[in-house]
This record gives sequence, C-alpha cells and structure tokens, in this order.
Amino acid sequence: MTAEAKQLVPGLAGVPAAESAISYIDGNAGVLEYRGYPIEQLAERSTFEETAWLLMHGQLPTKSQLDAFGRDLSAVRELPDGMLALLGAFPKTAHPMLVLQSAIAALGAFEREVRFGDEEDFRRAWLRILAATPTIVAAFERLRRGEQPVAPRVDLSHAANFLYMLNGEEPDEIAARVLDVALVLHADHTMNASTFAARVVYGTNAGPYDSVSAAVGALHGPLHGGANERVLRSLETIGSVENVRAWADQQFSSKGKIMGFGHRVYKVKDPRSFALQSLGDKMFAKLGHTPIYDVALELEKVVVERLGDKGIHPNVDFFSGIIYQKLGLPTDQFTPIFAIARAAGWLAHLHEQMQDNKLFRPGQIYVGEASRDYVPIDNRV
Ligand code: ACO
Repeated sequence: MTAEAKQLVPGLAGVPAAESAISYIDGNAGVLEYRGYPIEQLAERSTFEETAWLLMHGQLPTKSQLDAFGRDLSAVRELPDGMLALLGAFPKTAHPMLVLQSAIAALGAFEREVRFGDEEDFRRAWLRILAATPTIVAAFERLRRGEQPVAPRVDLSHAANFLYMLNGEEPDEIAARVLDVALVLHADHTMNASTFAARVVYGTNAGPYDSVSAAVGALHGPLHGGANERVLRSLETIGSVENVRAWADQQFSSKGKIMGFGHRVYKVKDPRSFALQSLGDKMFAKLGHTPIYDVALELEKVVVERLGDKGIHPNVDFFSGIIYQKLGLPTDQFTPIFAIARAAGWLAHLHEQMQDNKLFRPGQIYVGEASRDYVPIDNRV
C-alpha cells in the first residue's frame, strides 16, 4: 500500500513522528517530565541553565559542568555589530516574533558553517543560539524604543541578563527568579508544532539556525505560543470580573476560541498552569496584587463550567502573560520570551534527531482533478 492510500489523520493528531527521550506528557493525568524529572520539581529547584543542560544531555549537570556551561554561554551572548545594525533596520512597528525569526536565521549567516552530524559544530551552535536569543529580543526592544542596546554581563544568569539587557539595570532577585522559573516551565513539550517544524527542517540536513528560525515561525501562531499575547489582550478587553460571563457567553455563542484554553494533548489542566499560578501567587504577595489575575480566575471558572467536560482547561499560555506583565514586559514580547525558553527544547530535539536522521516526507490523499488535457487560452470559458 502506498503512503497516499493510507487513512488521513487531520493535524497528525496522536501520530508518533519520532522516538524521543527528552520529555514526556500524560495528557489525562496532567503529567509533564523532562528527562524523567517532574516539571514541578524542576520549577521549584532547577534553573534555566541547568534545565537546558538536562534537556540536551539527559542528565543533571555536576557543579563543575554547570559552572563551565554558564561561562560558555557568557562567552557567546553578545551580538556582532552587523546583527545590531540589522535589528535597527526593522520597522519599530514590526512584530518581535518576525524580527526574532529573521534574526536567528541571520545569526547563522554571521557564524561558521555547521556541518550536519559534527558534534563540535552542533555544540557551538547550541551555545550560540541559546545565549544570543535573549540578546536579540532585548536589543530589538531597546532599538524600537529609541534606546541603545545594552551589552550582556558575564556575572548574571540567563534570566537576569535578559531583564538587565532590556531595562539597563540589574533586576531584583524576585523578578529574575520568576522569569527563570517561567523559562524552565516553557523549555520543552514533546512533539509540539514548533518542535516538529524544527525537526522537519533539520531532517533535510539544513542547519540548526535554519531549523530554529522555522520553529520561531511556528511558535508565533495564535494556536501555539502566540496565544499568550492574545490571552492578555482578552483579559484587558474584559476589564473586570463582572464582565467575564457576558464576554465568555458571546464567545461561546459565536463558537470563538478562547485563548489560553484547550490543548491537543492535555485533557485536564496543564501542569505548567498550576506551577505558573503558584509562581504568580508568590510574586503577587511580594510585588502587590494584579486585578487582572482575578479576571483570569473568573474566566477559568466560567470556561471550565461550560467546556470542562470536553477536556478544555487552561493551558500554559493562560497565566504566563499575567506574570510577564507584572515583570513589566511588553505584551508583544511574551511569545519571544517563550522562544527564549523553548530554544533549549528545540535544540535538544535537533541533537536527538541528528543521531538517527530520516527526512520527513509524509504522504497525502489526493482529492484533485486527474489527467486533464491542456486547454489553449483562446478555448477557455
Ligand atoms: N475555546 C473554545 N473552544 C475550544 C477551545 C478554546 N480555547 N479549544 C478547543 N475548543 C473546541 C473547538 O471549538 C472544538 O469544538 P467542536 O468539537 O464543537 O468543533 C473542540 O474543542 C476541539 O477543538 P480543536 O481545535 O479541534 O482541538 P485541537 O486539539 O486541534 O486544539 C488547540 C488544540 C489548537 C490548542 C485549541 O484548544 C485552541 O485553539 N486553543 C486556543 C489557542 C491556545 O490557547 N493555544 C495555545 C495552546 S498551548 C501551546 O501551544 C503552547
């Protein structure tokens, strides 16, 4: 039987596209593990750097491995002048995800060639992409505000450096830790759309820069990472707890998708939502309450009342924006921040695929016309 004759699975839902040892989800039990470690434990005790190492290597790093990794990242955080000039050439109104997608591909053009299958070349690209992604996001943010980019510091963590490069001042410990945990929570998530996009591109033996750039494009869409930005905009439109039910009823009656709810794999509340809420609770206790959080809680109640039976519950994008807003981050930078985190997962998947690569080339079920004779233009009606 040819591939074309097989049964169609829309959206390849549930079709395994690879064997992977990187992360694991039980969508009915609300379980997420990275390399066998529960996400709750990593959120509580790990850092983004440690998690990125874990995802790539399969083991938690020793102290000396982690220190060396931190130094290696520091050494390649800064951008060449040509990249800064490029970022400055984009319109200030451009969506930062389009800028990031272009900039990751462009970064590859500034770097040495990455030979497919070469471990040392791959390691160099891994460090460069992980380290430079926050620098790109922060530099474009400053340039579009009319400010000079701020160079990274060697003594700050990945998360703290991002906030420092964005604001030009060292973040307080709470803000840096909150962002760090959010990055841990977003670092990998099995064969999601952007990871699959990265693997498809890499499967052609293209390089990691091309592949991560493609993944950023996939993450931008509102059905995937782009939902976080839209959740906040919805909550702002709703405005107050009293308005929630009327707004939600309107969405239900128009069959509109409510951003931040539903998931292809989870049929219960996303475990990352619980972790983000507990992070938010701690942050609000220290930095002050956010009224929009009350709107979100009411919206969760109303949506789950109505759609919970269909397995529709908050996903990771529902609470992340509220936290980022409290950190003073611009709404259209929420998805780029997701990309900063997910770069760790994308790169771990590329490395895994490099060991046993096979070109992705699915079949299709042809439903078009067959074997027609060409019609000269004067004979067409
Ligand atoms: N609001 C209202 N109804 C929904 C929602 C939602 N957020 N999500 C799914 N549904 C409904 C659909 O309308 C559909 O109803 P029907 O059976 O009456 O036609 C049913 O649930 C199945 O929905 P699908 O979109 O077919 O399910 P799928 O598994 O393809 O969708 C997805 C998963 C795309 C995430 C979907 O839930 C959605 O669009 N959610 C909103 C966007 C969002 O928050 N995306 C972020 C996901 S997390 C991430 O990628 C990081």
